[in-house]
Amino acid sequence: MISDYQHFCQQHVDGALEQLLQAPSTELQPLYAAMHYSVMNGGKRIRPLLVFASCQALGGEVQQAYGAACAVELIHAYSLVHDDLPAMDNDDLRRGKPTTHKAFDEAYAILAGDALQSLAFYALGDEQLSPISCKQRLDMLQVLATASGAAGMVGGQAIDLSSVGQSISQDTLELMHRHKTGALIQASVRLGAIASSAATPEALTALEQYAQAIGLAFQVQDDILDVTSDTQTLGKQQGSDIEHDKPTYPALLGLDAAQAYAYALRDQALAALTDFDQGADHLRKLANYIVSRNH
Ligand code: IPE
Ligand code: IPE
Ligand code: MG
Ligand code: MG
Ligand code: MG
Repeated sequence: MISDYQHFCQQHVDGALEQLLQAPSTELQPLYAAMHYSVMNGGKRIRPLLVFASCQALGGEVQQAYGAACAVELIHAYSLVHDDLPAMDNDDLRRGKPTTHKAFDEAYAILAGDALQSLAFYALGDEQLSPISCKQRLDMLQVLATASGAAGMVGGQAIDLSSVGQSISQDTLELMHRHKTGALIQASVRLGAIASSAATPEALTALEQYAQAIGLAFQVQDDILDVTSDTQTLGKQQGSDIEHDKPTYPALLGLDAAQAYAYALRDQALAALTDFDQGADHLRKLANYIVSRNH
C-alpha cells in the first residue's frame, strides 16, 4: 500500500529535516521556530517520496538521496509559506493549522520562507546527506535551482497571480501548472535518479515522461479538491480558488472533464514506466494515489 511506503519515506526524511531545523543559537530560536513550524506540520511528503521511489526504481538506497529528499520538501514548504501570504493567496489554514504568517507574523513568514529556501540548497550540497560525487551534487544543485526559480515554481506562481480574474486559454493554464507545481515534482524524480548513480539516458527519458504527467496531474487534482473536498479533510480552506477567482482546471473545463484529464495523465505516467520492473511499483502506486487522493 502507498500509505506504508509513505510512512517509511516520512520517517527517513523527517529525521534528517529535524536535524537541519535545530537553532544554532538562542538568538535564532524565533526564526528557527517559524521554520520548524512550517515544515514539521503533517505534510504528505509526496516530493521526498518521489525522490526515494525514483532512486530505488534504479536500484539505489534511500540513504543516497537524503539531501535531495530534504531539499525538495524544504523548497515546497517555503513555497507554501509564501503562497499563503496576504499578498498571494491570503489563506489562514495550512495542514490543519494556522498558516505561518498567522501563527507568527508576516515578516517572520517571509524570512522563514527565505531561510528554508537557502537550507534546501545547503542540504542538497552536503556531503553526508548527498554521499555521491561532486559532479552529481553540482548537477543536482542546477536541477533544483532551475525547477524552483523563475523558470519553474516561482515563474508559475507569477503566472498564477497575474491570471487572477482573467480568462486564460487552456494552453496558458497548462503552462502555469507545469511551472508552479510540475517543475518541482519533475525535479524530485530527476534528483532521485541522479542520487541513485545508476541512471541511463533511456531511464532518465522515461522517468522524465512519467514525472511530467504526474506533475500536471497533481495540480489538476489539487484544483479538483478545492471544489469537491471539505476544509477539515483538506487541512486548508476549501473553495479558496473559487473565492479568489483563480484560474483552475475545473473552472476552465468543468469538473468532469478535469477529472477525466487527471486520469488520462495518470495513464500516460503509467505507460512511461512500461520498461521498468517491479522496482518502479512505488512510482506506479503514487501515480494512482495522486489522482485518487482526498487531500
Ligand atoms: C499543495 O501541495 C500545493 C501544491 C503544490 C498543489 P501538497 O498537496 O503536496 O501539500 P502538503 O505538503 O501535503 O501539505
Ligand atoms: C500552490 O498552488 C503551488 C505552489 C507553488 C505553492 P496552490 O495555491 O493551488 O496551492 P494550495 O491549494 O494553496 O495548497
Ligand atoms: Mg497559489
Ligand atoms: Mg494557495
Ligand atoms: Mg490549490
